[in-house]
Amino acid sequence: MVTQVQHDVLPSRTHDEAARQDYYMDIRRHLALNVAGGNRTVYGNVVKPAFLKTHGREPQDRGEVRSVMTRHPYYQMYSAMQRHTQEMTWDSVLDSVERELPLLNERAKQQAAKAKGTLTLDPAFKVPTYLTFYDIHLQPGGYHANACPGDVSAGALYDRATFMYAMGNLGPRSDYLGTSLIAHFKARFPGIKPKRILDMGCTTGNSTLPWKEAFPDAEVYGIDVGESILRYAHGRAESMGVPVHFSQQNAERTNFADGFFDVVVSHIIMHETSTPAVPRIFAESRRILREGGVMLHMDNPRLSGLQPFDAFLAEWEVYNNNERFGGTYREMDIVAEGEKAGFSKGRVVLEKVAMVVPPRVMNYQTPGFGFPCLIGEK
Ligand SMILES: C[S@@+](CC[C@H](N)C(=O)[O-])C[C@H]1O[C@@H](n2cnc3c(N)ncnc32)[C@H](O)[C@@H]1O
Repeated sequence: MVTQVQHDVLPSRTHDEAARQDYYMDIRRHLALNVAGGNRTVYGNVVKPAFLKTHGREPQDRGEVRSVMTRHPYYQMYSAMQRHTQEMTWDSVLDSVERELPLLNERAKQQAAKAKGTLTLDPAFKVPTYLTFYDIHLQPGGYHANACPGDVSAGALYDRATFMYAMGNLGPRSDYLGTSLIAHFKARFPGIKPKRILDMGCTTGNSTLPWKEAFPDAEVYGIDVGESILRYAHGRAESMGVPVHFSQQNAERTNFADGFFDVVVSHIIMHETSTPAVPRIFAESRRILREGGVMLHMDNPRLSGLQPFDAFLAEWEVYNNNERFGGTYREMDIVAEGEKAGFSKGRVVLEKVAMVVPPRVMNYQTPGFGFPCLIGEK
């Protein structure tokens, strides 16, 4: 069992809060280990043969699988439990955040007063509609919520709940996405010693901090849309002794100068944007990279190439967890989008990034798990 590392702005847990949060994390594990697999059995033994009998062929795509699986009581039970557990995950963390918020806000303020990194907020910032339209992952208030002056609640909520959501698979500091992408980058580009690195959609800085730790001489920047979440990221980074420059900016159009960065990265943000935003983010990455610089946008497994049933299960979040763009992004021809954004043919490719510590418990049991990453060399 992995325990989350406590730091200055992460809410503590009373006995009852810990019991409730651990209960929901255990339910998630139980669903992944003991219930999710039953969907495959039901599909193979009951749903697919019935489809075959009616249509004279197997379901051809995930849409056809969905049309029959969502009518089966086993899948309905599984899906309802997943959804309920997601709602209760947030709910159970809210108690700790509300109880400790004045203290957490004060600690973030104290960290900011002696900070080595920086935090730049933009009072005129306009959050993109694809993030305000609904609460992604059902997070109350979404990524951009800001409850009061000096607020860190959005970050505090996200940090603990995401650890639970990932069932500890992202490690005690929830940083395995970052450390995995760094390992891939180092193996792939041993000659690049970055001086400036940007992490787009950094949220609480979970994946940003490892870049600073891996390249201590580099200036590391993180951008995101939410005031509260960035204030939390800043307090968290400082309390862990890892100085990063955070700012409130839209990855589609930042205020960084042309050619400012050696490396521009993101960890699982693209599937939460939109069809017009994706090419803009690739083009913006290219604009702010120096000649010879590299962009790496890592995201969830592609749907193409999966068997219809696996693609159906992998898409659960799209229909049930407010990740509507998640299916579209995972089917877009992102290499072509990278070329349209100005990267030369052959210098923008899709590669699979292996996790440094492979997940022990998976929700959807996708075969050959790894995070596809769009790599563009300027
Ligand atoms: C799933 S979270 C990313 C998690 C984080 N990168 C990590 O590795 O822990 C997606 C983040 O992308 C941010 N985001 C989405 N669109 C963005 C945009 N256009 N500009 C900046 N941030 C954006 C969201 O606000 C959210 O914080």
